[in-house]
Amino acid sequence: MSAPSTTTLITGASSGLGAETARQLAARGHDLALCARRADRLADLEAEITAAHPDVRVVVRELDVTDDAQVFEVFRAFRADFGRIDRVVVNAGVGKGAPIGTGRPELNRETAMTNFVAALTQTEAAMEIFRDQNAGHLVMISSMSAVRGMPGGGTTYAATKAGVAHLAEGIRADVHGTPITVSVIYPGYIRSEMNESLKRIPFVVSTQKGVAAIVEAIEKGRARAHVPAWPWVPVGFALKHLPLPVARRMMG
Ligand SMILES: NC(=O)c1ccc[n+]([C@@H]2O[C@H](COP(=O)([O-])OP(=O)(O)OC[C@H]3O[C@@H](n4cnc5c(N)ncnc54)[C@H](OP(=O)(O)O)[C@@H]3O)[C@@H](O)[C@H]2O)c1
Repeated sequence: MSAPSTTTLITGASSGLGAETARQLAARGHDLALCARRADRLADLEAEITAAHPDVRVVVRELDVTDDAQVFEVFRAFRADFGRIDRVVVNAGVGKGAPIGTGRPELNRETAMTNFVAALTQTEAAMEIFRDQNAGHLVMISSMSAVRGMPGGGTTYAATKAGVAHLAEGIRADVHGTPITVSVIYPGYIRSEMNESLKRIPFVVSTQKGVAAIVEAIEKGRARAHVPAWPWVPVGFALKHLPLPVARRMMG
């Protein structure tokens, strides 16, 4: 008898890291619960994955993660579809922002609400399921920007990514010694819609390569992973410890 398949729920699965994580987990035989706002993109991805891996079960649902009630509704519906959810990847995010106090508070607010408040809601919905199952793997997609406060348009974004990493670390302490596990992934720059308009992207890697490193870390159940490890482990260390005048030039 073959081993039971793992069911992974991914938010923000309509593009970039989320969509590629779905493709790579499907190639490993995982069933998938995929959600995002753009239902047409999800339908295309479902068709693509099902054609490539007919044995993999894919269910897609439209979800705006900033709608609290809808998050609980959709996560619970996915659980009913599959009977259980083994892993949730809290991935949906936006990269909008402006320097604080320069008259664009709506951009920073949207980023804070999507990347932190909505991530909290997704985590509540995921942990409700995991606690009931007494099993599950919570995966939080943070960012290398979490290691130090960022200047300019990245200030709020970096703060949200530090926030979600801290949230996940706290939950790990809560469930220590139980079958529930928590991974925090700190990606460096990986090509996606989020950074396609950026002119200077240091050390950027392709979506496939970056996500391969993410999937490897997730599958190993790493508690925390800077991905790809080269150059982001040493860059992360430098960013955290360099004097501000040097660090801000690296980050700007
Ligand atoms: N790419 C990088 O270099 C990098 C580095 C570090 C961390 N990250 C993180 O990786 C995650 C994925 O980003 P990405 O780079 O793959 O960017 P992306 O291609 O722009 O994907 C973002 C995803 O989030 C979804 N999303 C945004 N707002 C949403 C909402 N209100 N409700 C539901 N889904 C929403 C989008 O789907 P819809 O628009 O269809 O809803 C989309 O699927 C983000 O958390 C990002 O911060 C990325």
